[in-house]
Amino acid sequence: MNVDVTTDRFGAPGATRQAVEHVAPGTCKPATCNLPHVAASLLVVVTAVLLAFGALVTTYEAAMAVPDWPGTFGHNMLLFPLAEWLHGPWDLFLEHGHRLLGALVGLLTLMVAGLVWWRGGPPAVGALAIAAVLLVIMQGALGGARVLLDDKTVAKVHACTGPLFFAVAVSLAVLTRAGGRSSASTPRAGWTAAALVVAIYMQLVAGAQLRHVDPSMPPDSFRGLVALHVGGAVVVLVLAFASAAHATTWRSWPVAILVAACMQWLLGLGTWIVSWGLPTGLIPEAWQPDVALRARGGWTAAIVTGHVLLGMLMLGLSVAAAIRAGALDHVASLGHRGDVRRWRRFA
Ligand code: HEM
Ligand code: HEM
Repeated sequence: MNVDVTTDRFGAPGATRQAVEHVAPGTCKPATCNLPHVAASLLVVVTAVLLAFGALVTTYEAAMAVPDWPGTFGHNMLLFPLAEWLHGPWDLFLEHGHRLLGALVGLLTLMVAGLVWWRGGPPAVGALAIAAVLLVIMQGALGGARVLLDDKTVAKVHACTGPLFFAVAVSLAVLTRAGGRSSASTPRAGWTAAALVVAIYMQLVAGAQLRHVDPSMPPDSFRGLVALHVGGAVVVLVLAFASAAHATTWRSWPVAILVAACMQWLLGLGTWIVSWGLPTGLIPEAWQPDVALRARGGWTAAIVTGHVLLGMLMLGLSVAAAIRAGALDHVASLGHRGDVRRWRRFA
């Protein structure tokens, strides 16, 4: 069948939509595929795997398994022998794997940005694509600096910007999808969903300070940090509950976040116990200024890493839910209204 693909570079005219309806189910002509959405969705999936490797690197304290950067033991990172990577020590597998995945994510980000530029769309989506490129470059440089300087403060920043990049990737995947935004919900539902995104992100930031804690930190500051993270967990739970209660459309998303928040409490408690012993007081009994806090492997590593990853998943879900609830409407319609309508027709 001949498909009329006589569109401008934004793919806007109605002729294309009509042509799409005549394409046989299961087939996808290049000009009618929503390539930016496909690429952005792939970026989300690969970034999730990258975050998992990153979290494992921290859990196993494998950050310095490869002491040089951008190379790996003097090799060009991409040419490091496969057998040595796959059959070498676990720490090397994690750290080098994290770097390879970082390179892949960088490449995919450039591809998404290129496709968004090529296919057009509202300026807000273009701005998000540019933000993704800048963030991925910054994240790679921070990762390199963490190793070269062997610096925990850089590790904390790297741990906070990683989820930020993930949130941008999720936004891109949602906004490039047909009907990705919904304005049918109430302002209250939108604001609650937006507040939940902020609360979860703050929780990730506080968690990262706990995870990369400096053993020389005074006990009082450490106690404050613990209180902040546990207090933040209460706020997240309350907002997740309110978000599920106020949602008028796409209710399954906030409900999924509420379930995840309950599981996160259990994992958080588990993380506390395997890291610091039973929580008999606000300050963990195991806390001594110059004593190593944790020794992990097997189940304990799974609990701690699971807690980190579920936190990132909650952030991704909350970003998607907030956009669905119309909370970020002002971001997506920063540009001319016509641009937004054109993107909707195209996507
Ligand atoms: C888009 C790219 C990247 C993302 C999204 C990312 C994300 C992350 C995340 C989420 C963690 C775990 C932090 C935690 O559990 O607290 C991590 C750890 C780490 N990443 Fe990356 N990363 C990226 C690229 C890189 C690159 C290119 C390097 C190069 C060396 C690198 C080096 C590290 C190191 C050494 C750690 C362990 C830090 C520590 O435990 O002290 N990362 N990364
Ligand atoms: C429900 C909301 C919660 C979220 C979203 C959350 C998220 C996180 C994240 C993402 C990290 C690691 C951050 C990073 O390094 O990148 C973390 C660390 C941590 N969280 Fe939570 N958390 C929550 C609740 C809790 C609760 C209720 C507890 C304890 C009762 C807890 C205990 C911990 C501990 C002990 C760490 C440090 C882990 C380590 O030392 O490796 N969390 N949290």
